[in-house]
Amino acid sequence: MKEQDPKLIKKRFLKELKDVKTSEEKKKICKKYLEEDLSSVFSSFKNLPAAEKARVGRGANELKQLLLTKMEMVKETEKEETGWLDVTLPGKEPILGNIHPLTQMQKKCEDIFSKMGFVTIEGPELENEWYNFDALNVKEDHPAREMQDTLFVKQKGREGLTSKEKLLMRTQTSAVQVRYMEKNKPPLRVIVPGRVFRNEATDNSHEINFYQLEGLMVGEDVSVANFKAIIGSFFQNLFATDVEIRLRPSYFPFTEPSFEVDVSCSICKKKGCSACQRTGWIEVMGAGMVHPNVLQSAKIDTSKFTGFAFGGGVDRLAMIKHEINDIRLFYGGDLRFLKQF
Ligand code: PHE
Repeated sequence: MKEQDPKLIKKRFLKELKDVKTSEEKKKICKKYLEEDLSSVFSSFKNLPAAEKARVGRGANELKQLLLTKMEMVKETEKEETGWLDVTLPGKEPILGNIHPLTQMQKKCEDIFSKMGFVTIEGPELENEWYNFDALNVKEDHPAREMQDTLFVKQKGREGLTSKEKLLMRTQTSAVQVRYMEKNKPPLRVIVPGRVFRNEATDNSHEINFYQLEGLMVGEDVSVANFKAIIGSFFQNLFATDVEIRLRPSYFPFTEPSFEVDVSCSICKKKGCSACQRTGWIEVMGAGMVHPNVLQSAKIDTSKFTGFAFGGGVDRLAMIKHEINDIRLFYGGDLRFLKQF
């Protein structure tokens, strides 16, 4: 017959516990007391005289509490013992994202231009018709204004809006030219990277939105020669190799004269390859001398100041640099593509 007095059992338990060292042994003792000693107290309980019941009952419950608490404590120390930190294990590499190839290209352009004294500025994507077209000498009947190109914003119940009130998603970063020149007088040198929107059917070289990089330099005696030198130096740096620049006559309502800017193909060195469609040249941007009407929109004295402007697709530059053949890859969100940059 086992000892039935909870007080004595407690004493014996505490002594036994003190005599062992490892958590394993301590756990065994707790388990034994819970399953054997405590159970036998409870099972003999019903045979006790009424006077004893209250005392033994209280003692048994206290004992049970003590055994459970000790058991928990032993388990905790066991966790600490086994959960030690092995500082020699290789660390877990945190998963970092990487910068989108278009953002990388934009930053690179900003860096190169900032070294030539150009300040990076921004403008709103939701623009009014005046800054996007009128102020830039784009006449009212110009096809670019029409619905198939421009995403106009519905302004319900507002009829007869002026072009300063009519909202659209900007189709070109050129919209920022007059915005900036109204507040900042020449001499000025800025670049404007940003997202533009066009209502176009998508294919491997067209997207409904893409990124442009605009440039504007206005001052006394700013000429085409200045433009050619600056843009040549830009592409030299961007492609980190010797490239030639070629200007072809073109037309934009906001520049006169206007040009298309070509760079010699850095892949085949002008021999002709698939990237340059066997021509040896790649068209990269539109440019020209700022039209006097545009300077006048911003109340700049055209007898004193001249300037050049240029604008091209950041997407296109990234496609040339990384030899990517589909613009839609930039917007597809496919990590297998994005992680390569
Ligand atoms: N904004 C023109 C475009 O989107 C490019 C351009 C900018 C041309 C500045 C001339 C001067 O095609």
